[in-house]
Amino acid sequence: MIMNKKKIILTGMRPTGRLHLGHYVGALENWIKLQKEYTCYFLIADYQALGDYAEDVARIRDSVIEVALDWLSVGLDPEKNNFVIQSYVPEYAELSMLLSMITPKGMIDRNPTLKSEMLLQKDVSLGFYNYPASQVADILLSKADVVPVGDDQLPHIELTREIARKFNRIYGKIFPEPEALVGRVPRLIGIDGKAKMSKSLGNCIYLSDPEDVVIKKVNKMYTDPTRIRATDPGHIEGNVVFMYLDAFYQDKEKLQIFKNVYKNGGISDVEIKKVLSDTLNKFLQPIRERRAFYESHPAEVKKALIEGTTRSRILAQKTITEVKNAMNISKYEDLSNIKKAIEKNN
Ligand code: TRP
Repeated sequence: MIMNKKKIILTGMRPTGRLHLGHYVGALENWIKLQKEYTCYFLIADYQALGDYAEDVARIRDSVIEVALDWLSVGLDPEKNNFVIQSYVPEYAELSMLLSMITPKGMIDRNPTLKSEMLLQKDVSLGFYNYPASQVADILLSKADVVPVGDDQLPHIELTREIARKFNRIYGKIFPEPEALVGRVPRLIGIDGKAKMSKSLGNCIYLSDPEDVVIKKVNKMYTDPTRIRATDPGHIEGNVVFMYLDAFYQDKEKLQIFKNVYKNGGISDVEIKKVLSDTLNKFLQPIRERRAFYESHPAEVKKALIEGTTRSRILAQKTITEVKNAMNISKYEDLSNIKKAIEKNN
């Protein structure tokens, strides 16, 4: 019997706050589906988060648990898969350093996501500048076959493929070239209708928002500025409420009917917003219930993190040994007694 080894996924998030609906439709929804078929490593990238919050480490510390809680709440399985805290697996940093030696600086300079992010930073640190390259190491350390991400991350996956190819060419084939997989709604608009949902813009609905907060946020959404009375014909294009209904309302035929009625001035903004807040609250209810369970069982959350990180560390050590063997470094025969002595002293 041929045993087909399960393919590997690595993906991750920076722990910089609670997760929102944009994370769900752009990424988590995919992860939940894929976790059955693949062995998944879900990385809590706290080292990468330092690139944004080196002076606010408290925020990263709090968010590690928040992100783990959000992941458990949406139904990611920490037993069949692995929740990994990046800083507890030093091999990520080690591989990152090694791969940086074969990463052309020009390739980093041309990375469009990094370019636009750097415009928002005052004094770009070397660490931040290096983050796409360190993400390459995150992915390759697990020898991932597939990387489900938001579409802003695509340049980083392209970079990963190039570096994998280059490493394999120089030192021998170790790494697969991973494929990217983008979520169903790559850029969910924020409740302000202006930009992608993002914590820093304050335009989010969080997975952990209670019912009344969701209702308030939906009521604040922009609809159709040309519509003064409820009986005026309404526009669907650019209407934030309908963008959310497109993303979350399951019954597409019924949604089309709502759209037609709205266009004909047959339903008020208040009514259609009620449809949306009901839809979102129904969707969020099981997530809130699971969150409440884990909030009152913190030992379960810790267990998920400890077990996943431990399993990942074993894999990481295996890969890093293979890498060093392939590169023929850190194993100098005539110095082997020095190495032993160093290890003994540690
Ligand atoms: N950059 C991702 C984010 O912005 C987080 C991340 C770190 C990641 N390492 C990764 C994503 C590896 C995919 C693969 O949240």
